[in-house]
Amino acid sequence: MRKIILSEQQIDEICQRIAKEIDERVANEKKVPLLVGVMNGALNFMMSLMKYIKHPIFTDYIRISSYFGTKRTNNVRLIRDVSYDCTDRTVIIVEDIIDSGYSMKFLTEHLKMNGAKQIFVCALIDKAVAREVPVPIDFVGYTMKENQFVAGFGLDYNELERNIPFVYEVDENDLKRMDEVLKKDQENK
Ligand code: IMP
Ligand code: MG
Repeated sequence: MRKIILSEQQIDEICQRIAKEIDERVANEKKVPLLVGVMNGALNFMMSLMKYIKHPIFTDYIRISSYFGTKRTNNVRLIRDVSYDCTDRTVIIVEDIIDSGYSMKFLTEHLKMNGAKQIFVCALIDKAVAREVPVPIDFVGYTMKENQFVAGFGLDYNELERNIPFVYEVDENDLKRMDEVLKKDQENK
């Protein structure tokens, strides 16, 4: 049996709750806050979340790379930068999951350098037990109690499973099934 971490309904409830929290937090902003989705993992979450935000917002995307398979590397690379000037603007970084914290540390430093007035961090999942560098998180969907690898709703295993509408814990059988798909994909050049 699949261990569901977040069902479609739970995700929707989380998005509604966080959207309200964001609306309250940015209520007095003079400049339009910028929501920055971290590609590709946070795209599903960003789409679901922003439809519930009532305050005027701008949206943009940033792309970094740091993860291979189920093994993390601390080496974060910027692949696509934001196209907005963040100067004097409140920036809300929207992430799928915060694991070691290295990606978010890089992102907050990068966007601060870009001139952001203040930065809020929003994550669907906080894998708090795996943290290696401290990252203050302003809006959290769900905090994982164990250090497990999860997939679905944007979260991937070697780019697979982003399309699954819920988040589940990846087990041995899932790994076998996905490795088979990837192997076949490689064989058919
Ligand atoms: P960090 O830099 O270690 O915090 O890693 C953050 C990034 O690693 C996230 O944005 C995800 O893309 C990826 N990641 C971390 N844990 C998982 C997981 O359990 N499943 C899928 N991706 C993960
Ligand atoms: Mg990610």
